[in-house]
Amino acid sequence: MASNWTPESWTAKEARHLPSYPDAEALDKVTGTLGSFPPLVFAGEARALKADLAEVAAGKGFLLQGGDCAESFAEFHPNNIRDTFRVLLQMAVVMTFASKQPVVKVGRMAGQFAKPRSSPVEVQDGVELPSYLGDNINGIEFTAQSRIPDPQRLLQAYSQSAATLNLLRAFSTGGYANLRQVHQWTLDFMGRSPWADRFAQMADRIGEALDFMEACGIDPQSVPQLKGTSFYTSHEALHLPFEQAMTRRDSLTGDWYDTSAHMLWIGDRTRFEGSAHVEFLRGVGNPLGMKCGPSMAPDELLRQLDLLNPAREAGRITLISRFGDEKVEAGLAPLVRAVKREGHPVVWSCDPMHGNVIKADSGFKTRPFDRILGEVRGFFAVHRAEGTHAGGIHIEMTGQDVTECVGGAIAISDAALADRYHTHCDPRLNAAQSIELAFLLADMLNQEAVERAQRAA
Ligand code: PEP
Ligand code: CO
Repeated sequence: MASNWTPESWTAKEARHLPSYPDAEALDKVTGTLGSFPPLVFAGEARALKADLAEVAAGKGFLLQGGDCAESFAEFHPNNIRDTFRVLLQMAVVMTFASKQPVVKVGRMAGQFAKPRSSPVEVQDGVELPSYLGDNINGIEFTAQSRIPDPQRLLQAYSQSAATLNLLRAFSTGGYANLRQVHQWTLDFMGRSPWADRFAQMADRIGEALDFMEACGIDPQSVPQLKGTSFYTSHEALHLPFEQAMTRRDSLTGDWYDTSAHMLWIGDRTRFEGSAHVEFLRGVGNPLGMKCGPSMAPDELLRQLDLLNPAREAGRITLISRFGDEKVEAGLAPLVRAVKREGHPVVWSCDPMHGNVIKADSGFKTRPFDRILGEVRGFFAVHRAEGTHAGGIHIEMTGQDVTECVGGAIAISDAALADRYHTHCDPRLNAAQSIELAFLLADMLNQEAVERAQRAA
């Protein structure tokens, strides 16, 4: 266990991006209530994810992490949960089929509410109000009343997370994720995407493979992996009073776990040295992510790794790089080299979203699909050159047919952004764009596997 650590030791450190509540007593009451509520996940599940990620760190598998930038109370609907889950399954199948590697599936779901913002205030038509910080903190409506942090929102976020997680568990083990359903997962509007045909062809081939296996006596009844799948949850561990309230001692091992999600990550704005967020997460046993952007220096990264993973446990740390299309090759290579040199076992994952935000002429914040693909290509190129495993992808996406990122095969234009721009924070890939990205990733994983086989021969 981490030395000199308690669930509240973070309070002695510098905490950025935490809301300040006008009524501290009301917050204490809510965190007290949350502390008495059931955990959302069990420590054993977090350890199972860590074991899966240890395989990825060893080059055997790929991490797919995706979901909303910010979940919202308004978009809480079973169809939205189902559609995002379905697109993640489709993406995983595309990548597994092409690469013959397992894909570890982690949703940015069931708890991804709190947001760090670039400015503490928002100005509209000359009126200045505190920024929106996520539905678990304040409201998105541009009124003074709605922007006041309200601790009661944490209870609603807990209850939404519990219901979301319950449905995700039901889908992943109750039959929906059965590989026999692969044709049924195809979404209507994917029919307009050129990638729909490729998905249908792949689904046919999977169907044939399953028929063959069934004839040999291998079917979903005898092999449960065909009938269901593992699906994990994650979010940025930003709201420390909430995360602390959800932190419990595991009755089996005596270790502390943050039971709000299987995996927690530290954002690019809260991973500085001396940060309260780093202090909090170093003491919990969950697998952790850390965002690494252009301001991260190699020696700083190594110090953080020593702090967060002194035992060098494989699967504990996933480094999520988010440099932007133009900066990824020059920025990522020194970090990869330093981590490799020091022998830290990490999963390297690519977030091609947060370094590629632009303001479109229409005024919308968007992410051009070409730049997203460009960063993914750069990420794979760095790992090829350094001889390390390109281990994962971290994306903001939704199963809905939104128009938030420009480009893709169903070319979304700047003018079309206004049609269905629904995000509560950053622009997300829609279902068709997500599947298109999965096919590109599949090609790259294939290429990586071929090159590895050539080197081994
Ligand atoms: C996010 O993942 O939504 C986010 C805020 O990212 P970052 O910390 O990388 O800026
Ligand atoms: Co975001």
